[in-house]
Amino acid sequence: MRIAPSILTADFGRLAEVAQAAEEGGADLWHLDMMDGHYVPQLTFGPPIVEAISRASSLPIEVHMMVANPAGHFEALAAAGAQRVVFHVETVTDVASTPDLARAAGCEVGVALSPGIEVATIEPLLASLDEVIVMLIVPGKGGQAMQPEYLSKVRELRSLVDAAGLDVAIEVDGGVKAHNAVDCVAAGADVLVAGSAVFNPDQSPQEALAALRLALGGLGPRS
Ligand code: DX5
Ligand code: ZN
Repeated sequence: MRIAPSILTADFGRLAEVAQAAEEGGADLWHLDMMDGHYVPQLTFGPPIVEAISRASSLPIEVHMMVANPAGHFEALAAAGAQRVVFHVETVTDVASTPDLARAAGCEVGVALSPGIEVATIEPLLASLDEVIVMLIVPGKGGQAMQPEYLSKVRELRSLVDAAGLDVAIEVDGGVKAHNAVDCVAAGADVLVAGSAVFNPDQSPQEALAALRLALGGLGPRS
């Protein structure tokens, strides 16, 4: 079980500093939310911020792509230091061939399931993926409350992945906090995205990550 901070609610004026603080606090990988103002109304960042994080931290980077044309950015993201790219299935016309495009660009690949997208949509693809993100909120901004009804998709994915003996990470994204993190792991999640739980005005990233680990009973510190 790993924790992947999202920098969306972090202080972008002190990005290198907060990145180092989260790494020191025991984060396992970065979850960077790229939004293009089309797939979702917000506009966040692209390869330059990915590159800045990869310079400030040695942790692996995944890019959660909430963009209209993900395949058009795979190469630039790989060059900026992304190890993994994750796209939303409804943003591509040929879902089956898109993972190969990401691999050709030198990245691992995953898909993200928004609230309206069922697991059955990506079941045929599972063997060609490294990861599936189950959105527990409507994508587009940090700090929203988790919608626990979507944990049913995590349970469904967990049994599919285990039954097929696949090495596919199951990640949950949206509203993860110390008080509900255990429910996500109990449903079968391997990776927890944590944005406002880690970057908020009340705690340092180190304190926030320690609180999350404590809530998880010390599950899964980085080996
Ligand atoms: C929202 C993003 C999430 C978000 C998580 O669309 O995909 O990764 O940053 O932030 P919290 O943990 O605050 O919900
Ligand atoms: Zn995300």
